[in-house]
Amino acid sequence: MSIEGRPDIDRSVRTIHAALDAGVTLIDTADAYHIHADEVGHNETLIAQALAGWGGDTSGVLVATKGGHLRPGDGSWTVDGSRGHLREAVEGSLKRLGVDAIGLYQFHRPDPAVPYEESVGTLRELLDEGKIRLAGISNASAEQIREAQDVLGGRLASVQNQFSPAFRSSEVELRLCAELGIAFLPWSPLGGISNAAELGAKHAAFAEVAEQHGVSPQQVTLAWELALAPVVLPIPGSSRPETIRDSAAAADLTLTDDEVARLSAA
Ligand SMILES: NC(=O)c1ccc[n+]([C@@H]2O[C@H](COP(=O)([O-])OP(=O)(O)OC[C@H]3O[C@@H](n4cnc5c(N)ncnc54)[C@H](OP(=O)(O)O)[C@@H]3O)[C@@H](O)[C@H]2O)c1
Repeated sequence: MSIEGRPDIDRSVRTIHAALDAGVTLIDTADAYHIHADEVGHNETLIAQALAGWGGDTSGVLVATKGGHLRPGDGSWTVDGSRGHLREAVEGSLKRLGVDAIGLYQFHRPDPAVPYEESVGTLRELLDEGKIRLAGISNASAEQIREAQDVLGGRLASVQNQFSPAFRSSEVELRLCAELGIAFLPWSPLGGISNAAELGAKHAAFAEVAEQHGVSPQQVTLAWELALAPVVLPIPGSSRPETIRDSAAAADLTLTDDEVARLSAA
């Protein structure tokens, strides 16, 4: 909704409202979801606006944001995992989201120039100060998950890694999270913005199971991810009310053990 190819604000707000109407209670964003250098936090501002304009009770909605990635405005994505940057970034996110404490704050991506302990140690400080309620990490290896859990004194709430039918190498981290009782948020769970529409065409087993249930291959994909472990919380992207409604219905789609095994092996 806020990066390249963004829809207009009205459609974005209608999509977020459709998500809330469908019972979605987790919204993932990041301060780096913007295009131009002078609009940091475009997506956080949009989400705050949409939540404020929704008629229902938003007290049970968890907005998860991230810091540590930057977009200088030339189309690139850079990283800064330093304590100074993260402390400044969290203040910006607090203001844009209009909250006293961020529900879930995730360190977006390891910065090779900064010790991981410094970046995650900053999340520990923010937790202790009450500026964030939960701490998470993203794009993390199994070793980094264990290190973060150690630095945070057992308070690592979530790990957000890429995972989809086309990208399964982070199953190692998914299984580790299941073992440790940490939420695992697959990002680009449908294969990413430019591949999601082709999911059924590229992954025949998903299309076949979808046909048997009379639902979309995308919905089957999300139901399969949910079935892999109780800690899995997929965060499908949407820019239209129709797609988020279809995705949200995955929570009510139960696959048989045989179907899950078939999709995992496909
Ligand atoms: N931590 C990280 O480094 C990182 C990196 C990338 C993404 N993310 C997170 O992951 C989220 C999702 O990733 P993503 O947007 O890149 O990829 P994605 O969720 O795999 O795919 C998004 C695309 O799927 C389409 N779609 C969604 N639900 C659908 C359905 N039920 N049926 C058919 N099409 C459907 C959407 O279409 P429409 O646009 O037409 O609605 C959109 O184009 C992002 O919003 C972000 O929060 C995190």
